[in-house]
Amino acid sequence: MEFAAFSDAESGGARAPGRCHAVVGLQWGDEGKGKLVDMLASEHDAVVRYNGGANAGHSVVVAGTRYSLHLVPSGILYPGKAAVIGNGVVVDPWKLMDELKGLRERGVNTSGLMVSDRAHVVLPYHKVEDGLREDLLNRGAASEGGGGPEKIGTTRRGIGPAYADKAHRAGAVRMGDLLRPELLRERLQLAMAVKSPMLHGLGMTSEQERDLAIENLMAQCRDVGQQLGPMIRDTTQELHAMLRAGKSILFEGANGTLLDVDHGTYPYVTGSSTISSGIGTGTGVPASRLTRILGVMKAYTTRVGGGPMPSELSGEIAHNIRERGREYGTTTGRPRRVGWLDLVALRYSVMINGATGLALTMLDVLSGFKEVCACTAYEIDGKRVDFFTPDATELARTKPVFTSFPGWSEDISNVRSRRELPANARAYVEFIEKAAGVPADVVSVGPGREQTILG
Ligand code: IMP
Repeated sequence: MEFAAFSDAESGGARAPGRCHAVVGLQWGDEGKGKLVDMLASEHDAVVRYNGGANAGHSVVVAGTRYSLHLVPSGILYPGKAAVIGNGVVVDPWKLMDELKGLRERGVNTSGLMVSDRAHVVLPYHKVEDGLREDLLNRGAASEGGGGPEKIGTTRRGIGPAYADKAHRAGAVRMGDLLRPELLRERLQLAMAVKSPMLHGLGMTSEQERDLAIENLMAQCRDVGQQLGPMIRDTTQELHAMLRAGKSILFEGANGTLLDVDHGTYPYVTGSSTISSGIGTGTGVPASRLTRILGVMKAYTTRVGGGPMPSELSGEIAHNIRERGREYGTTTGRPRRVGWLDLVALRYSVMINGATGLALTMLDVLSGFKEVCACTAYEIDGKRVDFFTPDATELARTKPVFTSFPGWSEDISNVRSRRELPANARAYVEFIEKAAGVPADVVSVGPGREQTILG
């Protein structure tokens, strides 16, 4: 099945030579990007991750088998495709090894994986630091001047500390360094000289301290370096070589636009550039090469962790959406916060990404509600505004203005065309398209590949 979204005359189709397409999340992550990437992977020669790390997670069902992927691009599940982890990703190599082992045990050929030599390594001390920082914030150290209200609620996968070290530079470790023991030792020594006192101050246990001894770290790095060595490459050159050879590339965004470190609801964000322009820095392929940018969004809103969410719901409606949509984190298992669709935020995300079309997911979850609402404006200090500000303090003060739509009672999970949708569901989709200013190229009505309406 070829996506209408990617097969029009202008783009020359998904199989057109040298094409670059992207799938990005338009909300706070968990929009259902995995299903879209999985469907599109078969139409591209390579699938490339450009941001984030093992904080992301998606499940893909191929031929009745469910795979849970956190770091490995889902292109790995298709024989003959390249799966590339770009330089913008922070790689926990031990998690990566586990993931690869699990895939091999299930008969997947993982030889198509390449990891950028410039991708930064998430080391055990990054995870310890992430956890200890979160514990500190959760204890409410703010009252003693520590910033407690800013509970980010991270995935504790070491993402923020690894990106922070990338910016610090001295003592940071990149994938290529795993293959240079002398340099690696120097880097780890430098890193621990700074980390050790900090981690002590944050309450590191003696067991954690033992685990982080240089010799332990060196042994672990040597082992993983040997195993991953053949996959570590200059992926920027590899990707450009593919493009010169006329191959088409699909870029797979992790997390979501509103979690972007620059354009999201800072500080309640992740550490990376989640948006389409992150592809340029995160892979070395200029974002100007992108001819299609598919923005994935749920028919409602969810968020995991702290931070403002103007259209958030509580009570029965929230409970029903959460249970019907199985809204529990794939990486952490945490129940997700739930709200009506926020069209003010959506317009912003479409703008920031230059999204050319929408993939609207989980529409089936809204079946059975008497009314369905969407936030169409905000109110700040009694004034109506219809634009989004990522300023978390300002956003926390906004009140949602909801527009109500009559619901539909029909189960739509077997619907395969727009025409067959109940009139009220169709009207809801059309309203979203109008508000976003781009068409819904895809409407998803269930987790299965076939549960998809194209065009
Ligand atoms: P971190 O990326 O682990 O540092 O977490 C920072 C924030 O981003 C937290 O609120 C997380 O819950 C959120 N987050 C990170 N990755 C994802 C994701 O893939 N889906 C949803 N939320 C995420």
